Amino acid sequence: MKRQQMQGLMMALMLTTALPAAAAHGQAAAPGASKAWMNTKLSADQRADLIVAQMTQDEKLALVFGFFGSNQTKPQFTPSPEARMGSAGYIPGIPRLGVPPQWETDAGVGVATQRETSDPFLERTSLPSGIATAATWNPDLAFKGGAMIGSEARSSGFNVQLAGGVNLARDPRNGRNFEYGGEDPLLAGTIVGAQIKGIQSNNIISTIKHWALNGQETGRMTVSSNIGDSAARMSDFLAFELAIESASPGSVMCAYNRINSTYACENDYLLNEVLKKDWSYKGYVMSDWGATHSTAKSANAGLDQESAYTFDKEPFFGAPLKAAIADGSVPQARLDDMARRITRSMFAHGLFDHPVVKGPIDYAAHAKITQADAEEAIVLLKNDGALLPIAKTARKIVVIGSHADVGVLSGGGSSQVFPVGGMAVKGLGPTGFPGPIVYHPSSPLKALQARNPGATFLYDDGSDPAAAAKAAAGADLVIVFAHQWAAESQDYSLTLANNQDALIDAVATANPKTAVVLETGGPVLMPWLPKVGAVVEAWYAGTSGGEAIGRVLTGEVNPSGRLPITFPRGADQLPRQTIDCDPAKPEAFCDVNYDIEGAAVGYKWFDKKGHAPLFAFGHGLSYTTFGYSDLKTGVVGDKLTVSFKVTNTGKSAGKDVPQVYVGPKGGSAWEAPRRLAGFKKVDLAPGASTSVSLTVDPRLLATFDSKAKSWNIAGGPYEVSLGASSRDLESKADVTLAAKSLPVSYGGK
Ligand code: BGC
Repeated sequence: MKRQQMQGLMMALMLTTALPAAAAHGQAAAPGASKAWMNTKLSADQRADLIVAQMTQDEKLALVFGFFGSNQTKPQFTPSPEARMGSAGYIPGIPRLGVPPQWETDAGVGVATQRETSDPFLERTSLPSGIATAATWNPDLAFKGGAMIGSEARSSGFNVQLAGGVNLARDPRNGRNFEYGGEDPLLAGTIVGAQIKGIQSNNIISTIKHWALNGQETGRMTVSSNIGDSAARMSDFLAFELAIESASPGSVMCAYNRINSTYACENDYLLNEVLKKDWSYKGYVMSDWGATHSTAKSANAGLDQESAYTFDKEPFFGAPLKAAIADGSVPQARLDDMARRITRSMFAHGLFDHPVVKGPIDYAAHAKITQADAEEAIVLLKNDGALLPIAKTARKIVVIGSHADVGVLSGGGSSQVFPVGGMAVKGLGPTGFPGPIVYHPSSPLKALQARNPGATFLYDDGSDPAAAAKAAAGADLVIVFAHQWAAESQDYSLTLANNQDALIDAVATANPKTAVVLETGGPVLMPWLPKVGAVVEAWYAGTSGGEAIGRVLTGEVNPSGRLPITFPRGADQLPRQTIDCDPAKPEAFCDVNYDIEGAAVGYKWFDKKGHAPLFAFGHGLSYTTFGYSDLKTGVVGDKLTVSFKVTNTGKSAGKDVPQVYVGPKGGSAWEAPRRLAGFKKVDLAPGASTSVSLTVDPRLLATFDSKAKSWNIAGGPYEVSLGASSRDLESKADVTLAAKSLPVSYGGK
């Protein structure tokens, strides 16, 4: 199904009323207009004030109404010749005043293509999936990856990148978890914030999305995510808050879903109160594609720009907005504020001063950047008897399944980046949205062969478990690649599709020296786990994924990824055994009750309930070992500080991610026993040590009081734990914190 079909029809006759006279006719600048707003010595606020003061009403209206950027057949739509074909959106500029058009492209792993099946696509570099970048626990890599994809956006003629997906993984079955930063607000906010900063270092805007509580794809256009204010602020909102204050994304994209029964894009609480008032957010709010449902209600609630005309049922911010201002149902000041916020972000992020120009892209250099990300993202989940890295003595190696002979899988939907050099496998998956299924042409098999010239490799496609088991018997090592395709607009089962559990079981029965490499968007169940020697989570590894997997499996790179999401043993451990809403009724209103777990998302829920996960949040093995010592806590100013020593106690160089968790002693009003309070990626030679000092954000020690609108730290004793995962906490220290209250505006100060 095409996503446009899912998002309703539009009223084409209203289209032209939204086009500004000046933009349409290239009207000359008003006599006397000095373009004072082009003075780079002025602040973005001052420049925005100056330019908005010069705008006609139609020019302001033009800024707040976006068009889809690509061809569409249902309904029929041909974008303006000035739009960039394949793009997600286009907002005309105002030539008279020197306002450039806004050219919008998806998404978080690179420059995507939106297309009808017959249209050509852009071929660009893809990062590993968002959840993979979160698995690096390395904000520097996230920044570099963001800088790389932002530079490709810029060289492709785009100045707004629809990236920054930071919705918390409340349900491991959410079909878009692969685009996001995992289940913890500190980790997700830090990594996604760093990526946004990287993107915006190219003098373009990045969004942060999807604001907010867009936690499942089933019923995504209608579902109401129901949750209390305090729980939301301590979980999903906090991830956004941390990323917004570290990166200042130019725009926030409001989500498809409803929150407590009100659509996100017309939700006064979400947009005006939390975002703009409590957090003093100065950028603009754009709607997701088809997420606007009203004119006055949305405008007055704080929506600043309606995206992608033809996706919404009506052009709400076209002629209807003009009429609503004329009749007073939307104040003139609100339109002025919308135009000011949009141009302010355009000034603040360089869109006026550094116009985008299409140019060449150094794909070879970018392949290395994405490879570094993919390598650090790979999580070694299990490694009995040091089955990995591949022994130099291995003579016969059998590789099975998932097209590992030619490429690596990617996640589907609007974020899909099409590979440079074409897809490794053609004709897979739905022909329309969210397909096709795309494999990047980076072959794990070839990468392994190149690094093990003394071994004979055999590839079996895995379609017949019995044949694969026969091929595997007697080999020195068997590597089964298993995959789960996740894509926007649908959730997925935790059980591997296409009989892959039976395949792995049969192969491991025939040969216990079996390593499984998972290419998934998130957790899957592993009924065969006790039978296999090793398991590696490689996620969707991006453009250079095959090389990255090859280097990790052979030990050229020591794995250092850590899980940003809990792997459950079964759906019975989750807050919801099944996903709410009916996938067969995408138009029907339905509810998901997030008050069940409240702020206890992911590992916090598991800790609170005492569930033993299959693999814990933060877990990841290495080919070396690490030891922690000298854990000390202190209070500097009014902040908790934690310091400790990490030592590489093994025989090979490697990276580790020591994690600090904090919880109140003796029961508490917290949502769960402990929260991640800090982490650090360190790189150590064998025998080497390093000292790490961390300062804990006070909001991670507080609960949010909705009535008083404050973050409150309860005075008393707290336990600080240091370890290798949320369930492997070996050093503990106590600290006493003084009672303290922080204003809701704390982060925006
Ligand atoms: C997605 C957004 C995306 C937009 C534009 C929507 O379907 O939810 O994440 O940015 O399309 O392609």
